[in-house]
Amino acid sequence: KPVIFSGMQPSSDSLHLGNYVGALTNWVKMQDDFDAIFCVVNQHAITVATDPADLRERTLATAAQYIAAGIDPERSTLYVQSHVPAHAQLGWILGTITGFGEASRMTQFKDKSQRFGTEGTTVGLFTYPVLMAADILLYQADSVPVGEDQRQHIELTRDLALRFNSRFGETFTVPEGFIPKASAKVYDLQEPTAKMSKSAASDAGLLRILDPANVTKKKIMRAVTDADGEIRYDPENKAGVSNLLTIYSVLTERSIEDVANEFAGRGYGDLKKGLAEAVEGTFGPIRERTNELLSDRGELENLLRKGAERANERAEKTLELVHEKIGFPKSF
Ligand code: TYM
Repeated sequence: KPVIFSGMQPSSDSLHLGNYVGALTNWVKMQDDFDAIFCVVNQHAITVATDPADLRERTLATAAQYIAAGIDPERSTLYVQSHVPAHAQLGWILGTITGFGEASRMTQFKDKSQRFGTEGTTVGLFTYPVLMAADILLYQADSVPVGEDQRQHIELTRDLALRFNSRFGETFTVPEGFIPKASAKVYDLQEPTAKMSKSAASDAGLLRILDPANVTKKKIMRAVTDADGEIRYDPENKAGVSNLLTIYSVLTERSIEDVANEFAGRGYGDLKKGLAEAVEGTFGPIRERTNELLSDRGELENLLRKGAERANERAEKTLELVHEKIGFPKSF
């Protein structure tokens, strides 16, 4: 089976709708047809200052949400990044073939460093995409299911794989991004031209999986639309409404046209009510299951330990090959 690899940062108490629609729902669907590896990337999460107790909690909660959403830890390999030292080791090596200019062009780095200023921006934030490349290449992944915002990082990963292969001989599989057109970008409900993100200025546009149903419903009912009152899919002129239609279509697994037809001639309130139901229909069971999983930490940690064992075995193999290629002697 072809290999897929993906991960999310445990940088918040709850995953959000963008994470779910852009990535997690695809992971769940792909499990059957792929040799799937899913990671909680806690080493990436520390590129911005994080309270240790929060980080510990969020790491478990993120893993629990993967499982609650339908990732099967028996079929797929599910683990925490810091449990597999090879990520950081390969990250170092890949850093030595990454151009400074190349890394400087990463738009996510540019955005974040602008926000944090020179002193607030860490070297870890700068080399973040290199560690991400290591994550992917360690498992010889064929495909990486992510949202649109990760496209440039996947491009860098491909460039590094090709560069390493041409310099040192065939070593890495060159991965492809799996970025479905329609669902790869969920927009902020209050600012429907910006992506939904935990770091948005206002919380009102962000739907979190673990939030109570009434909080989520309120945010949906207040979502920004427009004044013309017509429900149709037109992302350029009707960003807010089109975003609601997209989300509804992904959650109900129906086409956008189908969904647009259902609501044609009706009011925005109807669409929002329908969407609130669909979101709760998806989030409700995930929330419940997440809480169950988090009430038995020992069992959850056990699952993650087993996942890490499997991941380590695979990652070590690639790392050994890489060491051999670049001329590191075998350890004595
Ligand atoms: P992260 O943790 O920011 O986001 C996790 C996943 O959610 C997707 N996503 C979205 N998709 C659609 N609309 C949105 N508004 C939205 N917001 C987030 C992201 O595209 C991502 O797929 N660098 C990665 C984590 C990472 C990784 C990896 C991913 C580290 N190593 C290796 C894949 C493979 C990140 O920050 O994702």
